[in-house]
Amino acid sequence: MVKQPQIIVALDFSDIKAVLGFVESLSPTQCRLKVGNELFTRGGPDLVRRLVNLKFSVFLDLKFYDIPNTVAQACSAAADLGVWMVNVHALGGVAMMSAGKKALQSYGADAPLLIAVTALTSYNENQWQSLGFKQNINASVLHLAQLTQQAGLDGVVCSAEEAAVLRAQFGSSFCLVTPGIRLEDNAHDDQHRVVTPQAALAAGSDYLVMGRSITRSPNPQSLLAQLNGTLF
Ligand code: C5P
Repeated sequence: MVKQPQIIVALDFSDIKAVLGFVESLSPTQCRLKVGNELFTRGGPDLVRRLVNLKFSVFLDLKFYDIPNTVAQACSAAADLGVWMVNVHALGGVAMMSAGKKALQSYGADAPLLIAVTALTSYNENQWQSLGFKQNINASVLHLAQLTQQAGLDGVVCSAEEAAVLRAQFGSSFCLVTPGIRLEDNAHDDQHRVVTPQAALAAGSDYLVMGRSITRSPNPQSLLAQLNGTLF
């Protein structure tokens, strides 16, 4: 698995012009880019194609969760856009996840990595149990990651606090993508369980999803250069 660059910048902007202006200051050798539900709903496939044409590796973070056939077609549509990574909800189950993975087979070496979201980090224990789950969140995350591996996916999105356990359980080729990263002097904003880039990498994270610590920095380009120079 080619890992560099290991920082994925979350493009959480509501304005397409602002995104394009921001991306112009970055280089594909410094970072990958994440397009989530908000930006995709505003900018659509055209924006994703523009980012791919600028030679960025794009993580299309749309968290597909539907019947297996629909998820398979959605994964193919993502691959047609030329993205590097796409994701589904592990809660869709093995049949849904396997269908997504199978749909990517025909893309060969150009197939995007397919990863799964286990439990959204916004759930607390009460909210999780209210959905009817018998296990607590930690046990559920482990179980859902097991299903993800069984379905042949490439890895999971997880909190850096779960990364060490998942790394030990699933081995070095299982890809761990961790959001909730903050630099020492950053505000936590709406994130509760935050870790530094150093701690996330030490716990076994492969890719660090970083949004506001980079997008709100006075000089994102030099911050990325500094992080790449010191972390990897
Ligand atoms: O600005 P910040 O670094 O908190 O952005 C984190 C990004 O990672 C956001 O795009 C958020 O939607 C995403 N994310 C997350 N927690 C998850 C999955 C995705 O924060 N469990």
